[in-house]
Amino acid sequence: MRPSRFTPPDDEPINWKVFLKLWPYLTEFKGRVWLAVGCLIAAKMASIGLPFVLKHTVDNLNLETTKEVMMAATLGLIIAYGVLRLANVLFGEIRDTLFGRVTERAMRRLGLTVFNHLHKLDLDFHLSRQTGGLSRDIERGTSGVSFLMRFLIFNIVPTLLEISMVVGLLFYNYGVSFAFVIFASVVLYAFFSIKATDWRTKYVKQVNQADNSSTSRAIDSLLNFETVKYFNNEKFEANRYDVDLEKWETARRNNRLSLFALNGGQAFIIAGAMTSMMALAAINVANGNMTIGDFVLVNAFTMQIFMPLNFLGFVYREIRGSLTNIENLFKLLEKKPAIVDKPEAKELKVTKGEICFQNVSFAYHKDRQILQNVSFTIKAGSKVAVVGESGAGKSTLVKLLFRFYDPTSGSITIDGQVVAEHTQDSVREHIGIVPQDTVLFNDTLYENIRYGRPDASEQEIEEAIKLAHLDTFVTRLPDRGDTQVGERGLKLSGGEKQRVAIARTILKRPPIMVFDEATSSLDSQSEQAILSALREIAEGHTSFMIAHRLSTIVDADTIIVMDNGTIAEQGSHEELLKLKGLYSKLWQAQQKNNSQDEK
Ligand SMILES: Nc1ncnc2c1ncn2[C@@H]1O[C@H](COP(=O)(O)OP(=O)(O)O)[C@@H](O)[C@H]1O
Ligand SMILES: [Mg+2]
Repeated sequence: MRPSRFTPPDDEPINWKVFLKLWPYLTEFKGRVWLAVGCLIAAKMASIGLPFVLKHTVDNLNLETTKEVMMAATLGLIIAYGVLRLANVLFGEIRDTLFGRVTERAMRRLGLTVFNHLHKLDLDFHLSRQTGGLSRDIERGTSGVSFLMRFLIFNIVPTLLEISMVVGLLFYNYGVSFAFVIFASVVLYAFFSIKATDWRTKYVKQVNQADNSSTSRAIDSLLNFETVKYFNNEKFEANRYDVDLEKWETARRNNRLSLFALNGGQAFIIAGAMTSMMALAAINVANGNMTIGDFVLVNAFTMQIFMPLNFLGFVYREIRGSLTNIENLFKLLEKKPAIVDKPEAKELKVTKGEICFQNVSFAYHKDRQILQNVSFTIKAGSKVAVVGESGAGKSTLVKLLFRFYDPTSGSITIDGQVVAEHTQDSVREHIGIVPQDTVLFNDTLYENIRYGRPDASEQEIEEAIKLAHLDTFVTRLPDRGDTQVGERGLKLSGGEKQRVAIARTILKRPPIMVFDEATSSLDSQSEQAILSALREIAEGHTSFMIAHRLSTIVDADTIIVMDNGTIAEQGSHEELLKLKGLYSKLWQAQQKNNSQDEK
């Protein structure tokens, strides 16, 4: 269970600078904003007018004229009262409608900006972050904008406007004492509410925490139903659960008491203000300085002012929470990607497709070197294979070539152009990768393959499916290519996913193709079939093949043997066998395994 959004995520002070950052997102519809402000003022003018109409009505009823005159005047006033009420509500509604669009556009822009930014951030950021947490941050941040606007524009700002108008009018009409009492009590009320809310926050948090921990305790215990029985531990479990429940009970009690303190204090201040205002008015009426109508007016104003303030504690907490959520979102935006295009970066042009690693060293973390002085060349149109134990750094070579990371020293060039000095887009455009672990979109099989080139025709997709040996599989599916593959492609087997990845890359048809253990999940028969297809496709392309089974790469022009981040040997299959080094050991080990498997 996640904590309620009513509690600010932490106790840091409010960062008002968030408004400055949010401002550009709110200025898209200038006309609308001004109109909404106009409506806000109109609505408040109408509501300020109400007590005045009330006053004149009461005074009229007290006049000593003929019944007809009195009735006519009063009727007019009562109609005016109705009109003002209507205008108050109507202008308020128009204001909300007008401003809603501004908020939604801001949410859309902000959401898109964050989304684009997240795609710019480096692989490391995404590997070390929980995607669930990320999407919750985005959701909370954008809905924070909506909350903030709703409570600020529709509650705080109008209330402030109303208070200042009322204070001004009271001062103008009835002198300093009335204005002072209202002003002082509003300030006191706001101060008290904010302080009390801050103080209460810890109790609200305790309730949420107790709620979370007792729920997860119960779930965990029930999930382990069997284990509990095995050890006869029902009583033990019940006791543990009750300890949590007791904490929850105490937290709830504290929370309720603190709410009582808040509400009680607020009521006390309101009652004090009402009493003083009415006492003041009564004295004035008795002295003949004010009419009964004035008394009614003062009463109406005081009530009208405190009504919206009732929610002040809640609104304050909401605004605080929203600001923190928005701030978190902006913090995400401030995160700098590790790989950025240099300002003078040019487009990489691939003419032949020659790849050259020169003295490349690399570390994911400064304390652990992964690659050391790796140098090799893949001639244009040739096929180079990389072999080595798991963890030797083979996939890392691919990630560097694709510019997910830049080397710590040394350089990688494609046709003589340094990869790190060209735009990421242009580098990636020319490289097709069938990765070690393929993850698919939760969409249909066809759409997942089309992803390799979104504008590919049906025919091209069919062709790619055939080349990747997916056709028999597809015809066996009840929905054919329209079959949903499930989240991350979990409804497909590892081999099927790999073939989808191969089909995608076939569709992209880049000049440089990389296969990172692309057939490792296939049985030897399909592997052989796909390999021959890959050979066909790779014809004339530079291809870089990371292999697990050495038998799949004996025909490579060059084989690079990686060992612990360095190149141990390189050469053709025959040359390496003659060397009687690491490769020949690996080869013999695998041959032995194969013959054992066959027995
Ligand atoms: N993003 C990463 N952060 C830190 N270490 C990593 C990361 N990716 C891979 N490594 C480490 O780098 C080493 C080489 O990984 P890799 O190139 O994937 O090996 P392989 O040769 O099996 O493809 C491994 O020991 C792995 O633990
Ligand atoms: Mg690997």
